[in-house]
Amino acid sequence: MSEKATLTYSGKSYEFPVQVGSENELGMDISQLRAQTGLITLDEGYANTGSCDSKITYIDGERGILRYRGYTIEELVEYSSFTETAYLLIFGELPTPIQLQEFHELLTRHQFIHENMRHHFQGFPASAPPMAILSAMINTAGCFQPELVQPADESSFMETAAILMSKVRTIAAASYKTSIGEPIVYPRFDLNYTANFLHMMFCMPNKTCHPEPEIVRALDQIFILHADHEQNCSTSTVRMVGSSQANLYASAAAGICALWGPLHGGANVAVIKMLERIHEDGQPLDQFIEGVKRHDAGVRLMGFGHRVYKNYDPRAKFIKKTCHTVLNKLGIHDPLLELAVKLEEVAVKDPYFVERKLYPNVDFYSGIILRAIGIPVDMFTVMFAIGRMPGWIANWREVHTGSQLKIYRPRQIYSGSLLRSYEAIEKRK
Ligand code: ACO
Repeated sequence: MSEKATLTYSGKSYEFPVQVGSENELGMDISQLRAQTGLITLDEGYANTGSCDSKITYIDGERGILRYRGYTIEELVEYSSFTETAYLLIFGELPTPIQLQEFHELLTRHQFIHENMRHHFQGFPASAPPMAILSAMINTAGCFQPELVQPADESSFMETAAILMSKVRTIAAASYKTSIGEPIVYPRFDLNYTANFLHMMFCMPNKTCHPEPEIVRALDQIFILHADHEQNCSTSTVRMVGSSQANLYASAAAGICALWGPLHGGANVAVIKMLERIHEDGQPLDQFIEGVKRHDAGVRLMGFGHRVYKNYDPRAKFIKKTCHTVLNKLGIHDPLLELAVKLEEVAVKDPYFVERKLYPNVDFYSGIILRAIGIPVDMFTVMFAIGRMPGWIANWREVHTGSQLKIYRPRQIYSGSLLRSYEAIEKRK
């Protein structure tokens, strides 16, 4: 017999079914709450609100577990590629060799952006934030792809997913080239997803370059680690926008805007800025940490803490290891890495952070790797967006293939003015 939760209000008891997830997570189904009791729930920031039933990603924040479609992030990052992981997220199963080849070919076939899109890049000022360009250009790419997306038809959706995944990296590299006044570089047919991105970022039309395989692999792994993270701010945004039946491009463009903020995808930029400031000022770490604890001018230890993880973020463990590997491979000595390691050592022993369960998150070390590869700081969040695209696509598809498509529309508790009469402007003081 299924469990029920009982709510007592105003002398009456009401029962609500308890939904049990596949990993025994419990959720009280309150879909009949307002109809039965006249109440709504109030949960600012949604920390206690399950917005959907999803089969894509599982996180146990207390135990530091992250799995895509049942596979641990540790196994995927070790054995899989970003392309294969993207397929897994979007379609639910690891691809067969033929399916993976087909997906890879689609990614390659759709790697060019329409020639008419190229001049759009010239319309942005040199100072335009790359996330603004990316969001605008993903929406623009949608205008060049007007055919109807059929989320339930696997083969047609595979093409749509490949178009979006492929073009996001071409657009990202083109926006970077435009921002530094260099010619946009066309993608190549012989490179894998990530190598092709590095080629478009760092080569010239008349000069090939050969990124080290270890660097290509490290970036591919960073993309895998960012590929999905259940109902975070940007993914919830994609689902919300998609629930109005907005198309996949518009929904992904909205996700990019949500990711942009420093409390979400912009955090690795904030981490580098924080480390640079401490390094340049020569500020003792203890002093900086004391300032964080006093909430001086709202200072936080960026790259620490997470809404869901109350333990070490499993992605951060891997990123820290990769950071050392990449810097060693490139022969780079970065004082910011030393600083980050020391900050972590101090923070994880400090009662302030221990009591609040604040540990390094994925952003704490990722910026140092990206910097070492040569990715400029203002492109960091763009890298995150490339990685997160499969997760957004998978979630958008899930919204559209669920049992019933229902528009996301939360309620509120109104606490504004009571009814008042309009006063003509001449009478207002
Ligand atoms: N440094 C110092 N104190 C912190 C930090 C931090 N990074 N994060 C949380 N706290 C403190 C808060 O001040 C608060 O303390 P209080 O109870 O004394 O007021 C307590 O911990 C709880 O903090 P909340 O803001 O309520 O936690 P929430 O779950 O809402 O926030 C968040 C999570 C936004 C990630 C937060 O930890 C933060 O701002 N971290 C820094 C930014 C960051 O690294 N973001 C990346 C997240 S991962 C990602 O999006 C990919």
